[in-house]
Parts: sequence; C-alpha cells; structure tokens
Amino acid sequence: MANHISLFSQFILTFLISSLLICCHGISDERKTYIVYMGDRPKGDFSASEMHTSMLQDVVGSEGSDLMVYSYKRSFNGFAAKLTNEEMLKLAGMEGVVSVFHNEKKQLHTTRSWDFMGFSEHVRRSTALETNIIIGMLDTGIWPESESFNDEEFGPPPKKWKGICQSSSNFTCNNKIIGAQYYRSDGYFAPNDIASPRDSEGHGTHTSSTAAGNSVGKASMLGLALGTARGGVPSARIAVYKVCWSDGCYEADILAAFDDAIADGIDIISISIGGFYPKDYFNDSIAIGAFHAMKNGILTSVSAGNSGPDPETVFNFAPWFLSVAASTIEEILYQGKGVSINTFDLENEMYRVIYGGNAPDIRNGFNQSASRYCIQNSLDKTLVKGKIVLCDYISSGETASAAGAIGTIMQDGYFQDVAYNFPLPASHLALSDGFGVSEYVNKTRKPTATIFKSIARKDELAPYVVSFSSRGPNPITKDILTPDLAAPGVNILAAWTEGCTITGLVGDNRVLSYNIISGTSMACPHATAAAAYIKSFHPKWSPAAIKSALMTTEAEFAYGAGHINPVRAINPGLVYDAGEDQYVEFLCGQGYSTKQLQLVTGDNNTCSEVPKTISSNLNCPSFTLSAPSGQSLGRVFHRTVTNVGSAKSTYRAVVKTPKGLKINVTPDVLSFKNLGEQKTFVVTVTAKMGNASISGSLIWVDGEHQVRSPVIAYVSS
Ligand SMILES: *[C@@H]1O[C@H](CO)[C@@H](O)[C@H](O)[C@H]1NC(C)=O
Ligand SMILES: *[C@@H]1O[C@H](CO)[C@@H](O)[C@H](O)[C@H]1NC(C)=O
Ligand SMILES: *[C@@H]1O[C@H](CO)[C@@H](O)[C@H](O)[C@H]1NC(C)=O
Ligand SMILES: *[C@@H]1O[C@H](CO)[C@@H](O)[C@H](O)[C@H]1NC(C)=O
Ligand SMILES: *[C@@H]1O[C@H](CO)[C@@H](O)[C@H](O)[C@H]1NC(C)=O
Ligand SMILES: *[C@@H]1O[C@H](CO)[C@@H](O)[C@H](O)[C@H]1NC(C)=O
Repeated sequence: MANHISLFSQFILTFLISSLLICCHGISDERKTYIVYMGDRPKGDFSASEMHTSMLQDVVGSEGSDLMVYSYKRSFNGFAAKLTNEEMLKLAGMEGVVSVFHNEKKQLHTTRSWDFMGFSEHVRRSTALETNIIIGMLDTGIWPESESFNDEEFGPPPKKWKGICQSSSNFTCNNKIIGAQYYRSDGYFAPNDIASPRDSEGHGTHTSSTAAGNSVGKASMLGLALGTARGGVPSARIAVYKVCWSDGCYEADILAAFDDAIADGIDIISISIGGFYPKDYFNDSIAIGAFHAMKNGILTSVSAGNSGPDPETVFNFAPWFLSVAASTIEEILYQGKGVSINTFDLENEMYRVIYGGNAPDIRNGFNQSASRYCIQNSLDKTLVKGKIVLCDYISSGETASAAGAIGTIMQDGYFQDVAYNFPLPASHLALSDGFGVSEYVNKTRKPTATIFKSIARKDELAPYVVSFSSRGPNPITKDILTPDLAAPGVNILAAWTEGCTITGLVGDNRVLSYNIISGTSMACPHATAAAAYIKSFHPKWSPAAIKSALMTTEAEFAYGAGHINPVRAINPGLVYDAGEDQYVEFLCGQGYSTKQLQLVTGDNNTCSEVPKTISSNLNCPSFTLSAPSGQSLGRVFHRTVTNVGSAKSTYRAVVKTPKGLKINVTPDVLSFKNLGEQKTFVVTVTAKMGNASISGSLIWVDGEHQVRSPVIAYVSS
C-alpha cells in the first residue's frame, strides 16, 4: 500500500516474493493468469466474449471457457485467462494481440491541506456542474456510513451514469456514492476481506473522502488535527471500484475496473496504486486502462509511488497520466524531539526504559543483533513488560506492543519529514537525538522516560516534496517529465473505515472514523479533485488540457511543475493540449509497430505517415532533456498552445535560466485574436551538465496570466 506505514514490515518480504514470482514464471507448465490485451474495442456489431473464447480454445482446446477469467469488452478489447507459458506464447503471436503479460500484483501507494493550497472552503464553485462530476475511485472500497459520504443535499445521480451498485453484504449506495463494484478474479477472500465494495482496509475510504468527501466539521483523530475534514470537490459523486484486497491489487482486476469505469460514464479516474518496477506502456494495466480513458476524454490521476528519494523510482509514468508526487502540508506532528502520530497519553508518568539489545528472546533463538532492532518476535516479554523499549530502527511497533511494552522509542537515520502511527505510545527520533537517548540509557542504571501525546506545529519549510515520494526521471522515456506535479500527501486527515483499526496492527484497538496517514496515495486524490474542479468550469476540456492547466499555473517550483493551485488552474490563459493522435505519434517514436498501434487506437493511423516524433515533441507543458555529467547538449522542442484566456491577447516569453542552461524561444511573442486559436513555437534548450540537474522555466505572460513550464536538464548515467 502506498500508505507508507504498512510498508515497513512487509516491504522486504513482499519484494522477495514478487522477485521470486518474476524469475520463476516461464519455466513451469503451471497455469497462471495472463492478460491478453487487444487494443481498442472493435466498432460495430461483434461478440467479444465469443471471439475471446474462440481464441482461447484455439490454444487450449475445448476446455477453454473454464480458463477464462475476464472478457474485457465495454471500453477496450482483451481478456484474462489461465495459461501455461507455452499457451501464453502462442496467444502472443496471434493476429489482433497487442501484448500479453502476467497478472502481477500491485500495491496501494486532511482537513487543512486544502486551505494550504489557497483552496478554501469558500472558494467560488460551479456547484451545478460539480454535482454532475463523477469520480471513479479504484481502491480498497469505501465505508458508506461515514459522515463524509452522507447524501442529504444530493439529487439523483447524473443522467450519464450507467454503472451499477453491487449491494451485497449489507452494502448500499446513495446519491453521493452512486455506484460500487468489487473485482476479485480468483474469488479468494482472506478473513480480513469483505466480499463487497465495503472497505475493510481504510485506504479507499481515505482517498475517496479526500477527493470528494462532504465537509465534516470538528473531524479529528482523537483530538489530533482538529478541524473540518472535506474533499476537494464536495458536491461531486463517487463511483467505487474495489480492486485491492489484503494481499494486494491484481492487474486483471484493475483492467476489469477500468473497462467498467470508462463505460459507466465517470469523468475522472483516481488510482493510488503502483507496481514494483517499471513496465512497458502496453504491459501495464494502469497505463493501458488510462490510455483508453484518455481516448474517451477521461483523465487518470495516479500516485507517483513511495520509493523515493532516489532517482528513477517512479513506476507510474505514462505521459497520458497525471502523475502526482507528495508534498508536505504546513503542519507536522511531533512530541518533544520525536516525530510520530501519537494519540496515547501517558500523562507525563515516567517509565523504566530498556534497550532492545538487552532484551532478546533467547529461548526462541533471538540474540541482541535482532532484538536491538526490535525485529518481529525478538523481544523477551518478561524483560520488556511495562517498560519503554528503545529500538535502533523504526518498525511498526507491533513487536514491542506484543511483548507488553508500555511504549517504544525508535532511533535511526530515517527521514523525519513524515510522522507514522503506531499501536502503542511511540516516538521516532532522528539519529542525533537518538544518540543522546541511547547514551543516557547505556550510562544510567535505572533510565526512565515518558512519551508525550503529539501536537501539531508549523512546518516553516512546507511545502516541499517529502523524502518517500518517488522521483523521476521517467525510467522508460527519459525526456518526459514525471511526476507531473506535487500535492499534499503527508499527515492527511480523512475518513476511515470502521471495519478495522486505524493501523491494522496487532495490539491496536482504536476504531475511528477519521485517520491521519501519508503517501503519494494521499496526494493523488488531491490532484484528482483539482482536476474535477477544473472540469466543473470547463466540461469540454481534454485530459491533456486539464493537466496542462494544473501544471502551468503554479508559481513555485517544488517538483514536477510544482505544487497544485486549483483556483488559478481554472483560468490558465493558455493550454498545451494533446489528443490521442499526439500520443500515438509519441508511441511510434517509442518503437511500437503500426500494427500494434492500429489495434490500440482502432483506426488506420500508420507510423510511416506521421512523423517519427521524438518524445521531446509530445505537446506537454514541460521541457526535459538528459545528458551525462560534463557534457553539453542542445535540443529542439516544438509546441502548440491553445488560447483559453481572453480572445484578444498577446503573450511574451520570459525565460528563467540558471547557470548552465540556455533557452531560446521563437517566436517569443504570440498574438491571439480568438478563443480556441492555436499558435506554435519552437524552444531550443542548451544545457551544460555539471553534477546536478538544472531547472529553469519558460513563462508566457500577457499581463493577466502566467503560463509556466519547467525546463529540466537531468544528469543521465
Ligand atoms: C510483456 O510481458 C510478457 C509476458 O509477461 C513478456 O514476455 C514481454 O517481454 C513483456 N514485454 C515488454 C516490452 O516488456
Ligand atoms: C449492516 O451494517 C451496519 C453498519 O455497519 C450495521 O449496523 C448492521 O448491523 C449491519 N447489518 C448486517 C446484517 O450486517
Ligand atoms: C545472532 O544470531 C544470528 C542468526 O541466528 C547469527 O548469525 C549471529 O551470529 C548471532 N550473533 C551473535 C552476536 O551471537
Ligand atoms: C549503547 O550500547 C549499545 C550496545 O549495547 C551500542 O550498540 C550503542 O552504540 C550504545 N550507544 C551509544 C550512544 O554509545
Ligand atoms: C481502414 O482501412 C480499411 C482498408 O483500407 C477500410 O476498409 C476501413 O474502413 C478503414 N477503417 C477506418 C476506421 O478508417
Ligand atoms: C562533481 O563532483 C565531484 C565530487 O563530488 C567534484 O570533484 C567535481 O568537481 C564535480 N564536478 C562538477 C562539474 O561540478
């Protein structure tokens, strides 16, 4: 899950398991689920299911239909089926197949955050249009009884809505949550899973309420972050597509949800889910789903991932996404020197402290090299019970809690820019403060301590991109900026499920309706809502135009194009628009064959007819190039802008060029007479690379608007 907290204990294990899966398939005859992607939905009369079954039977014989998992046919063409490696290869060579890929697992990746973005509760809204906006949430489901999803002031669903509500297991929709479905191809439900759109994890309830939850006064998490919890577009409707379960989110299910969501009539898709490594555009369920969404005028907002701060850690990077990094909000939760979300109050009482390294559970085979890190089951209950345990590493706190500790202090070199939630009183110290505590504990015969309840404090540096947020450049197409922009993703208060505790960890019994969590998962629905807000003013704008408006209206460069500013984004002046044709040109340049692309688009475009556009010509509102350290390079970018500001206007190019960067724009003045009029220009960037990336900008100004694009030169290896 991009909910960062759950990563600690499970990350390494999950990673190992998925690596094993990767290296083992291909050598066995065992059947695995594969996705056979066949591009766009054929026009006219045809029976997709029959066609898919017959293709399957061609390779597996007459038992074919039993092996069918999904038939995708409402928004694009393809199917998922259980195949041996040999059968998979046969299908991959068949006429009409674009790609075949394994059904891999993906993982999931606020009251005050909206005000912080200059987007207050009282902002000008187009409520009549906003209430027609439907946001599709591909996530862990939803807790429909939450106040955040109360439908008191809502009329019936918009007429365009064609989806369903799977009212199984005590789940009902209302006029706020207008649709809900769940997807689990193998029909397996763990004890923690509910076979219904109901959320038993919390993540989906949190992201849904961040995007479109009602305003709920006095929401808080046991007194922390007291305020109003509200979504970015509180009048919008929510359609729930539950694709994630206690063991992860599978590609076959994700594609089935896209297939439905696009056909159901939603306006924006929000998906805070990502994979474990970069995948080719048409070997990835989210990239494929989002491509067909784009073809249908629907923008897909995705979380960049939580694998930062190293470069090239973004695994959701297709240029037709709105890919969102996580930034901090103005408040940080802390107690004394420690950082954590601690709702427990020890009432200043002092407790004995024991160093984990001195409390190994020897009888169960643990020694101090495990117990100093408080590794799972490594602590001796009799030694730890009733004390505060000092651990040399951040962990979930489950082990300390299970061993009967009253609290835990963790010290390590881990980043301090995000606070985590633990099942017991806990404090996470930076290395320097931790050293002092460790020294005190070592040198004192009966060391004592207490742990304060957390309070909120202003973070003077905010907003900045948080350490865990995945970084570009784009691992497949280096010259495309990714992530696109940043939105609040740290310490976000939003609605929670009552189907589990707020941490889901052993030893926690706090079942609450609001919770504070962090992740690019939380940033994504902020951007989703900003996109929906723009759409409520400009219902006809393309996904690329909405993305451009969000990217070019940010003054402050944080990451990607910067930190979103929804209010300015409804009036960007100019947009860099792009439709399916531009993305197809881009894909031609990426080496896809005409045959593959004809299937994907469902028309007769050929790569030889359109220019083999290099990626730098994709009409996006950013300019990216890369070169090895010490080298100089130049690159020419062709761009087109569309006037959406004032009919008669004249824009002048202003460039910001730090040392090492030269930007030349021709022409450098663009005069418009009409709305919707387009002008092209050429940007020549020359970069002399040192050791670090260089970032400058190009801003078109007309006295009223500032249309800003980042210009970034990365050091490539
Ligand atoms: C796509 O996935 C298939 C099967 O999993 C694999 O054989 C193929 O190499 C992948 N293609 C690319 C371009 O990654
Ligand atoms: C249905 O859910 C509501 C709300 O959680 C609960 O109060 C009620 O007992 C549930 N009914 C059944 C039959 O599970
Ligand atoms: C602790 O246990 C591990 C594994 O059980 C072992 O490899 C290591 O040598 C032990 N360390 C000490 C200091 O005994
Ligand atoms: C405290 O003692 C442990 C070993 O028992 C050692 O690893 C650690 O470095 C000591 N802390 C300080 C600050 O000296
Ligand atoms: C594509 O070309 C074929 C043959 O030239 C023609 O029959 C078909 O109608 C064309 N399809 C589209 C969508 O233009
Ligand atoms: C790059 O970094 C190295 C060591 O960090 C330094 O010696 C060198 O001068 C730097 N080069 C440039 C071009 O800044």
